Amino acid sequence: MHTGTTLTQFIIEEQRHIAGATGEFTALLNDVVTAIKTISNAVNKGALIGVMGALETENVQGETQKKLDVITNEMMIRNNEWAGHLAGMASEEMDEVYPIPAQYPLGKYLMVFDPLDGSSNVDINISVGTIFSILRAPVPNRAATAADFLQPGVKQVCAGYALYGSSTMLVLTTGHGVNGFTLDRDIGEFILTHPGMKIPADTKEFAINASNQRFWEAPVQRYVAECLEGSTGPRGRDFNMRWVASMVAEVHRILTRGGIFMYPRDTKDPGKAGKLRLLYEANPMSFIVEQAGGVSSTGYERILDMTPENLHQRVPVILGSKNEVEVVLGYHKQA
Ligand code: AHG
Ligand code: MN
Ligand code: MN
Repeated sequence: MHTGTTLTQFIIEEQRHIAGATGEFTALLNDVVTAIKTISNAVNKGALIGVMGALETENVQGETQKKLDVITNEMMIRNNEWAGHLAGMASEEMDEVYPIPAQYPLGKYLMVFDPLDGSSNVDINISVGTIFSILRAPVPNRAATAADFLQPGVKQVCAGYALYGSSTMLVLTTGHGVNGFTLDRDIGEFILTHPGMKIPADTKEFAINASNQRFWEAPVQRYVAECLEGSTGPRGRDFNMRWVASMVAEVHRILTRGGIFMYPRDTKDPGKAGKLRLLYEANPMSFIVEQAGGVSSTGYERILDMTPENLHQRVPVILGSKNEVEVVLGYHKQA
């Protein structure tokens, strides 16, 4: 018999304190969790069930889709479309809004997701994840339009990610702190293992894809150069560097032991403000990071305050330990 708090129990108890809660959100989250367990299983079985490798197709971002990008997108849809909680979904892997099929009732929430984050890591057996964000539909029980999704991140009802690492974890916020759950495969339940996750304010660890260095703007150039100078430079201490190439894994490391993560604005492709997508990567991660005491910014503005312009909009992201992010933001102000 398990002795921990299950995710379902945790959510029901949390909702009890919210006046007017109908249980609908709890039910929606249950379906998200089922999708995540299904994805965890597929990612874990890997080559045994023939899901590795790439397809010939590209997504709306022009990225080659992995088989698992498409399979996990389907798993998110199938598990969440039927119950009547959602008025529409949007995903990294779909150009347009996914309408709830006519045979199912419409609900009062919207969901956006990145079904498989870090999918370039999937064939090499390095951690990947799923990111999701739940918003209120501006008009409940009416088929959602793309415009309905273009709400600033501060409006998120819930944000979470699943990390398919050496264990599968689900990390979640509904705006009352951040809690982490670990999947116990024997009983098929997520158990609360990381209550009240907090990002340490200080860190000596930074994460950035340094192969883009020549494209960075001056403030990021300065910040990274000073980190590399270590104890002999102006920061007066040595730094460590990590780059997993799965945002979920980077954010999870930062939630666990602190750090700073940057996918900054660069001049590589003038048509793109950054690499990561606002609605289903930057916003949910920013909500989680802020709820854990960290900071998340484009370098120039708070990500959660931005009004999205389109479903697949890209943004620069600088997030993590408060004091360290503030150093970088200070350099942006001075520039
Ligand atoms: P996705 O696999 O969903 O397209 O996202 C990958 C993202 C993000 O998770 C990661 O931080 C970044 O892309 C890695 O980019 P590089 O390949 O440029 O390092
Ligand atoms: Mn991603
Ligand atoms: Mn993805």
